[in-house]
Order: sequence, then structure tokens, then C-alpha cells
Amino acid sequence: MAADTLTITDNRTGKSYEIPIQYGTYPGYGATINAMDLKQIKATEQDFGLLTYDPGYTNTASCRSSITFLDGEEGILRYRGYPIEQLAEKSTFLETAYLILNGELPDSEQLQKWSRAITEHTFVHENIKKLIDGFHHDAHPMGTLVGTVGALSTFYPDAKNIHDQECRELQISRLIAKMPTLAAFAYRHSIGVPYAYPDENLSFVGNFMNMLWKKSELVYQPDPVLEKAIDVLFILHAEHEQNCSTSSMRAVASSYTDPFSAASAAIGALYGPLHGGANEAVLRMLAEIGTVDRVPDYIKSVKEGTGGKLMGFGHRVYKSYDPRAKICKKLAYDVFAVTGVNPLIDIALELERIALQDDYFISRKLYPNVDFYSGLIYQAMGFPVGMFPVLFAIARSVGWAAQWQEFLLDPDHKIARPRQVYCGCKQRDYVAMDKRK
Ligand code: ACO
Repeated sequence: MAADTLTITDNRTGKSYEIPIQYGTYPGYGATINAMDLKQIKATEQDFGLLTYDPGYTNTASCRSSITFLDGEEGILRYRGYPIEQLAEKSTFLETAYLILNGELPDSEQLQKWSRAITEHTFVHENIKKLIDGFHHDAHPMGTLVGTVGALSTFYPDAKNIHDQECRELQISRLIAKMPTLAAFAYRHSIGVPYAYPDENLSFVGNFMNMLWKKSELVYQPDPVLEKAIDVLFILHAEHEQNCSTSSMRAVASSYTDPFSAASAAIGALYGPLHGGANEAVLRMLAEIGTVDRVPDYIKSVKEGTGGKLMGFGHRVYKSYDPRAKICKKLAYDVFAVTGVNPLIDIALELERIALQDDYFISRKLYPNVDFYSGLIYQAMGFPVGMFPVLFAIARSVGWAAQWQEFLLDPDHKIARPRQVYCGCKQRDYVAMDKRK
């Protein structure tokens, strides 16, 4: 019997099956069996064969990927092998985006070319402005982003040529470059001020700040500390393997739709409070708690199930401190030095302090995730809470694009179409209206 196999005995029939075990880069992490190998296990010849039942895909690998490694027990996150801590300290968002998309850090010429491509594509068609104007003044900017990113498919019908590599690269540049413009336009629409056009002389983040906050000055000068802080936050949010929005991107793209329609679905997934909407939910929670002395009561209500979840805590994969949360916590103080302290930080610190010594949170391995501190930083910079998930979406568009491309080039790729375990009625005959009870 081969060593790297699994032997399964079906006690219904007494039959044994030997199933190969496959590995990824680390044998101790990601050992898998092929789900289709279970299909041969049947109680009778007519059976469909054994399925696995895994709501929420808690223990199912949906793909092989070479982009991001994360070890939730040890709190490790690496893009293409590079630790997140090193990238946050030494890289820039655009350089990290290049790395995530292409697998290697760029040389200076490649970086220049890539930065130029992104800068060129920051402009949007004038009709996009009309589209945004059609949204109600208090439209949530994430809803506006879902609509406008989806609408890009109508402005770029060539995006359907998903099997053409050059065309794919063009759409990726368009998507990443236009996200900040769409986000800034959605923001300015919500506060009723005219749109500010991209400034090609500024950095990716500097230009985004210009489109958000430019007033009557001729040239907008971004504050370098805040520009750096947003850049680092974008690096932290750029990619995170098969999370809910990325899995949505892959699932929707698996029908071979264009990347803008798929990205629009991914933004929809990110919008939810259990995913990218969590940083918004954290701030609402901190505001609701209001003062430090009310923290113990709030924790009590979470534990008793009457106060909802402790937002910004817990993660499907991290069962220790989220490495991104550590960086965010430190970054908060750099930003507060410029903007003044966000008073909600004291409530957040007290929540963290109490939760980290409470058995409810310890036993469930619930630690602060990336969203616990990012919202405090964004709020101190002057972003309204509705913009928090939008900022997340701008950064994560890189991960979505990289995963989309990897999916299309994967020889194992298939349309996403899970099975179900049918638990409804067996066949029965139609009942006429006058005979129904
Ligand atoms: N506060 C209180 N209890 C929690 C929390 C929380 N934040 N998160 C999980 N739990 C409890 C659950 O109630 C459950 O308890 P039980 O075993 O007594 O039933 C146990 O911990 C396990 O939780 P699950 O919901 O099964 O964990 P899952 O992996 O499915 O969920 C999730 C992960 C969705 C992130 C969850 O922890 C959560 O809702 N957190 C708050 C929202 C949040 O911060 N989301 C952002 C995630 S990071 C991101 O998407 C960028």
C-alpha cells in the first residue's frame, strides 16, 4: 500500500478504498484528497456516490493557488512568499500589486511601466458621472460601487475576450486604476460637491486623496504621513486567498463572464458586515458603546448572545492575532499624530484587553482581525463610515484580479457548481386548489 494514501472502509458494504493524498508547498498544510475519489463509494450500484457536506467550505480547498499563503494558527500571511510585515514596511501598494499579479517583484523599468499603465487608466468615461448622478444623494457608496464597476462591462465590451492575455492585462489595469476614481466620485456625490479629476502627477494614493478632498486649490498636496498610511492599509487589504469576495469573484468568473461583472459580484460579497463591511460595523459598535466604562457590560451582552457579535473579532482562518491587525494598531498612532487621536481608540483598546483575557474569547480563539483598527484610522482621516468597505474594495481589486487570472490559466478550472444534499419531499402528485388543506 502506498504511503501517501488514505484507506476508507465503508461499513455499509464492508468494501475498502485506497485514495491518494496530494500536497501543496507545505506537506503539513493543505494535504488533500480529491473529492471525486469519494464518488466511487456507494452503498448500492444505483447510488450517486459519497459526497462531502461542508456548508461555508470550512474544510474544502476549491483550488490550487500560488498567490497567498496564510497560516491562521501561527498568524502568518505572505504574498508570493513575502511576509506581509516586510511588504508593509518596505514596499508600496502598486509594487505589491505587481507582485501579487505577476508573482515576482518588478525591476525599476517594470514598475515604471506598470505605474504608468495604472495612471493612464484612472480616467473614466464622462457617462459614468451621469450614472453616479442617478444615485440618490444618500446612496451607500458600496452600492454605487457595485453598480458602477458592473457598468464598466458596458463601456469595455472587449473585456469579454477573457482568453486573450493582452486583453486580460488591459482589463486588470482598468479595474485597479478606475476603482479609486469610482470610489472618490461616489463619495463626492454623497456630499454634493463636484467631481475632482485624476492628477497624473501624484502617486496612486496621492491621486486618490486628490479626487476625494481637492477643493479650490490649483494643485492638491497630499499629507505624506496620511498618504503612506493609506498605502500601507491598501497593502494589508490587497489579497487574502479564498475569502468570501474572492471566492465570489472566482465563482462568477467561472461561467466566463467579463471581469467587471465578476468584480461587481465580489464587491457585493465584500459589502456584508461579516466580511469587508466589518470595519464599518466596528465603528458603529464603538460609537454605540460610547464610553470605556460600558465595555464590560457590552462584552457580557455579546457572551450572553443579546448584544450580537464583537465586530472586528474572530476570523474563519486566523485562530491567533491577525498579523494585519498588529500593523494597523501601530499605524493608528502615526495617523493620530497628524489628525489628532480618535477618542474611540480607548474603547477599542479596552474591548481588546478584556476580550483577550476572557475565557469565552480565548476558548473560541477569537482575536482582533484587520478590521478592528482600520476603521479607527479611516475615521480619524475624515472618511465617513460608509466609505470604509469602499477603501477595502479598492485594495482587494488586486487580489480579485490575480485570482481571476490564475483561475483562467488553471488546467483544473471548472464552472462553480456545488452539489447539495436534498432533504425535501419525495415525489408527490399535484393537489387541486379546492382539495388543499
Ligand atoms: N463575537 C462573539 N462571538 C463570536 C465572534 C465574535 N466576533 N465570532 C465568532 N464567535 C463565536 C460564534 O458565536 C461561535 O460560538 P459557538 O461555538 O458558541 O456557537 C464560535 O465563535 C465560532 O464562530 P463561527 O461563526 O462558527 O466562526 P466562523 O469561522 O464561521 O466565522 C467570522 C468567522 C464570520 C469572521 C466571525 O468570527 C464573525 O462574525 N466575526 C465578526 C465580524 C467580523 O469582524 N468580520 C470580519 C472578518 S475579517 C474580513 O472579512 C476582512
